[in-house]
Amino acid sequence: MTSDTSTGVDAVPAPATATAVTVRVPAKVNVQLAVGGLRADGFHDLANVFLAVSLHDEVTAAPAEELRITASGPDAPLLPTDRANLAARAAELLADRYGIEPRVHLHIAKDIPVAGGMAGGSADAAAALVACDALWGTGASRAELLELCAVLGSDVPFSLVGGAALGRGRGELLTPLETAGTFHWVFAVADGGLSTPAVYRECDRLRLASGRGATVAELPDPEPSPGLLEALRTGEVRALAAALTEGGSSNDLQAAALSLRPSLSRTLAAGEEAGALAAVVSGSGPTTAFLVEDGPGAEAVAGALRDSGLCRSARTALGPVAGARVVPLGGGAPGAGAAAGLP
Ligand code: C5P
Repeated sequence: MTSDTSTGVDAVPAPATATAVTVRVPAKVNVQLAVGGLRADGFHDLANVFLAVSLHDEVTAAPAEELRITASGPDAPLLPTDRANLAARAAELLADRYGIEPRVHLHIAKDIPVAGGMAGGSADAAAALVACDALWGTGASRAELLELCAVLGSDVPFSLVGGAALGRGRGELLTPLETAGTFHWVFAVADGGLSTPAVYRECDRLRLASGRGATVAELPDPEPSPGLLEALRTGEVRALAAALTEGGSSNDLQAAALSLRPSLSRTLAAGEEAGALAAVVSGSGPTTAFLVEDGPGAEAVAGALRDSGLCRSARTALGPVAGARVVPLGGGAPGAGAAAGLP
């Protein structure tokens, strides 16, 4: 591809690399998920406070005869390897935009729980976009990549950006948030996934059943919690814990996830009993997220959760971390372009 004024890219793009490109991309936890009413387009308006955490997938793009997806890692058998995989759709979308064929082999080294409410599929889509852009030398601008991310899904733009951000609209309109320090988390990965649309539907059903109504016309606009944003800004873990559990949970999808998977309330309680400062369902679940004081606290809570037999695995992680980044050749932590101050 040389120049393409129809996409607004008129500079000579960087030469395509002949070799493979690997992109590392983080999971997210929603420190707040305020869900407004159901819109006419089937989505819900959100005030979605995202935090990128240090569970990562790696997506490697290599030249191939045709679009092909493979995966590795314990959850790999759960991943679709056809066009149902959002990473495949990302490659096709970018290729289509630049009028080229998506001749790429995408390999996903999977560490983010699948269908766990941690945006694993969205992360792979963002990583595939960045990897294919580098492999093909398409030279898409950041704004263009963000626009393509939003086409792919509500959480995909945040996987590109990382750090901490407020998502409005259906979650795709991002404002980066200032944070201080690093928060320690434990994630209890449940057996089996929960379907995000099913959890939103259950949220609507519970709202209707309670007589509050479920549509945008009936419900107030979702707003971020000032206390929660302040806790992120100052890095005060106990203030963040208080904000996470204010009014029960900062996650409006929590009641719906618990309704579909009642056993999650025992997992939440087990983490709190083990010393977590706050326990919430992560996004649409079924992963549960535990905010802890520090590293030793994280190990203690993760150990107790593993011993409880209430989850498939318990993982410790830090946040915020940087969004999707090319891994420099020769391996090592992604350095070039990493957001300032983010591991
Ligand atoms: O955008 P994404 O493809 O991740 O959304 C998956 C589904 O989750 C949507 O089809 C919709 O049912 C639900 N959703 C929603 N409101 C949002 C985001 C997602 O209802 N803001």
